[in-house]
Amino acid sequence: MNLETPSVLFDEKRIRERLAELGGSISAAFEGSEICIVGHMKGCLVFVADLIRVIPLDTTCHFLTASALPGAGAGAACTDISYSSEVLYEGRHVLLVEDVVDTGITLNFLLDHIRDASPASLKVCALIDKPGRRKVDVTLDWAAFTLDEPETGFVVGYGLDYDEHYRGLPYIGTIPRPAAFSEGQQA
Ligand code: IMP
Ligand code: MG
Repeated sequence: MNLETPSVLFDEKRIRERLAELGGSISAAFEGSEICIVGHMKGCLVFVADLIRVIPLDTTCHFLTASALPGAGAGAACTDISYSSEVLYEGRHVLLVEDVVDTGITLNFLLDHIRDASPASLKVCALIDKPGRRKVDVTLDWAAFTLDEPETGFVVGYGLDYDEHYRGLPYIGTIPRPAAFSEGQQA
């Protein structure tokens, strides 16, 4: 596939510095508790790997994927969640880790789902927040980076993909927003 080379938005040094700040802030908020980290795959994969190494608390790690009905089209709400292993949320302090919060539709669905299982507390940390593109009002506790689209385009790298490409880039880069994502389609 002929892939466009992304422009660097946040390089490895900037990401490392921001991760250190986040780790401090998250650790302070969960002080004295075990954190049940739930990562939304696959975009969260590099972020979670780095995040758990800057949080000096006891953490457990779990992963889920969320999908819409096949053929539901761009911007469709999720209807299905799969787990890599069973997660017992009840009474636990949960940190949901998202890749990109764009329209907020996906995050809203995941939060409702987890809240239904009665965690002791529920917080959200996203790698990228795009508050200007919200269709659903959701509140994040932390975002590593907050972006202002269309100025910044579509972000890839550091686990984030376009059509499964670019995940392995060590930096966060930007490409023009692909047509398939014009309505905030799931990835
Ligand atoms: P939404 O908040 O429900 O619109 O869903 C956000 C999802 O869209 C994320 O989990 C990503 O998979 C995908 N997404 C949105 N914007 C971007 C981007 O700039 N780069 C990579 N994925 C994106
Ligand atoms: Mg995704």
